[in-house]
Amino acid sequence: MSNPDFKPVKKAVLPVAGLGTRFLPATKVIPKEMLPLVDKPLIEHAYNEAIEAGIEQIIFVNSPHKPSLEKHFEEQKHLESDLSEKGKTELLERIHHTNLKPGDVQTVIQEKALGFGHAVWCAHELVGNEPFAIILPDDVFLAEKSCLAQMMEAYNSLGGNMVAVTEIEDTGRYGIIDIENDMGKTVSIRNMIEKPSPEDAPSNTAIMGRYILQPEVFDHLSTFEKGAGGEIQLTDAMLKLIETQPFHGFRYEGERHDCGTRAGFVEATLAYALHNPEFRQGAIEVIEKYHKQINGETSVKHAASA
Ligand code: G1P
Repeated sequence: MSNPDFKPVKKAVLPVAGLGTRFLPATKVIPKEMLPLVDKPLIEHAYNEAIEAGIEQIIFVNSPHKPSLEKHFEEQKHLESDLSEKGKTELLERIHHTNLKPGDVQTVIQEKALGFGHAVWCAHELVGNEPFAIILPDDVFLAEKSCLAQMMEAYNSLGGNMVAVTEIEDTGRYGIIDIENDMGKTVSIRNMIEKPSPEDAPSNTAIMGRYILQPEVFDHLSTFEKGAGGEIQLTDAMLKLIETQPFHGFRYEGERHDCGTRAGFVEATLAYALHNPEFRQGAIEVIEKYHKQINGETSVKHAASA
């Protein structure tokens, strides 16, 4: 072993306590993470990514009002007996992988929405003294190998802390990093700022919703200092970690979709359908139909205004 301090990542924290207000009224009763991209809710996309990356224990940081997120990963006896009586084995197979053993998913309740950093801190006892991943279900990655699985490979040789990064235009929506050394696929980070205005942004390289962090980040989170937007920000705690531990950005392969906005959700739905052999042809036909309609409308408007 080259590094005796190296510990593998076996736990993933999924902060899912948010109210999802941008999607109201859809999210009045149904959690945002239960909204589907075609056939799978966002929470299942996140879960699948964790499992593909070798995660063994999932920790939800949830609110008391969204119990359907845990339910989605429990056996639903009435549904299964109905499907098996009707001989619908193919449908049964579609849900079996979501029937988890007790303990595979654990939940900690975040009583008050005090920020992303606070949500992560809420998981500190369940994570304990080991490195852990964070998956934001709003950020959906479509790639041959999932974003977290790609990061795990890099982490296994680099250790330390790692965040997924990509180049963006709107710095005010993301944590932005200042790159110390650019190695291409990975970069070392010397500074990071949460949602800076374009004038204050040190670069246009932004943090996306996948993280691998060492447990010392909880020491910094436990000060509950408020940052951007008056909230306890993970970015501020990670910045303090940079002083004592290696911190890398990882440029993933694949597309990232922002399911936290309504337009982003529409795009993610189309992109997921196009990536999936089962839905691809149907999605192409729909897109072509609307493409023609949009072009038709444009020419009608031109004709009317001429
Ligand atoms: C959070 C983080 C931000 C990061 C973003 C990725 O912001 O605070 O640093 O860039 O996720 O999606 P949020 O989207 O919760 O506002």
